[in-house]
Amino acid sequence: MKITVIHGQGHKGITYKMTKTVLDFLAEDDDEINEFFLPKDGPGFCVGCNTCFMKGEEFCPGADKVQPIIKSMEESEIIILDSPNYVMEMSGNMKNLMDHFAYRWITHRPHANMFKKVGLTISSSAGAPPSNTVKSMAKQLKWMGVPKVYKFPLISNALNISTISSKKEVELKRKAEKIASKVKRRAQNPHASLKGKIMFYMFRKMQSSPDAAWNPKDRDWWIEQGWIENVRPWK
Ligand SMILES: Cc1cc2nc3c(=O)[nH]c(=O)nc-3n(C[C@H](O)[C@H](O)[C@H](O)COP(=O)(O)O)c2cc1C
Repeated sequence: MKITVIHGQGHKGITYKMTKTVLDFLAEDDDEINEFFLPKDGPGFCVGCNTCFMKGEEFCPGADKVQPIIKSMEESEIIILDSPNYVMEMSGNMKNLMDHFAYRWITHRPHANMFKKVGLTISSSAGAPPSNTVKSMAKQLKWMGVPKVYKFPLISNALNISTISSKKEVELKRKAEKIASKVKRRAQNPHASLKGKIMFYMFRKMQSSPDAAWNPKDRDWWIEQGWIENVRPWK
């Protein structure tokens, strides 16, 4: 099994520990884990040139950094996004990377492999519940076609790993084990969701109509995949 992990921060703090603990319970010795740390492994800020949409993702000024990450995601069974809660959201580094994935949204040129994957989003915060942050990152994966995204939020009651209490560490480990078993079970039985299929059919309708499909690059993609005919990404 292949697992892609994108860390929305460069340091190995509480959020990293949450992810690492999940992986300890989740991954087998022969699993391949590809980790990307932001901002080191990510692209510069999206400049809003629209080139990915209109001309092709390979022409994005950040393509050399974006493409290895997205390729790894597309080849993986499990995708994990983590980020500390920064002002009730994912880190700016993570959001910037998500901006670069816009062309892969179901509305544009989704990759067929995404429709059967399992996602997991992880976040810690000092005091306020980081539920918005895990939901926000999950939304990104869902719009790329991922049918099931589990969420692991944790209130750390700490500003960094050196001040986390041992009681909190016990809670972290217990929750990590539980979430890892859910992710593993789903990964062993990958399947598309009804909601994902409905979204696919909604945008298939749009791409099927020459009037509604405003971007020829996207429309050609849907035609090439055979999705306007009888091919379906989850089969
Ligand atoms: C820029 C910044 C913004 C933060 N915003 C919040 C916040 O809005 N609510 C909160 O409870 N914690 C906030 N925190 C605290 C962290 O989310 C929290 O300490 C987290 O557990 C740190 O995880 P880490 O060790 O992985 O960096 C913020 C921290 C930073 C550095």
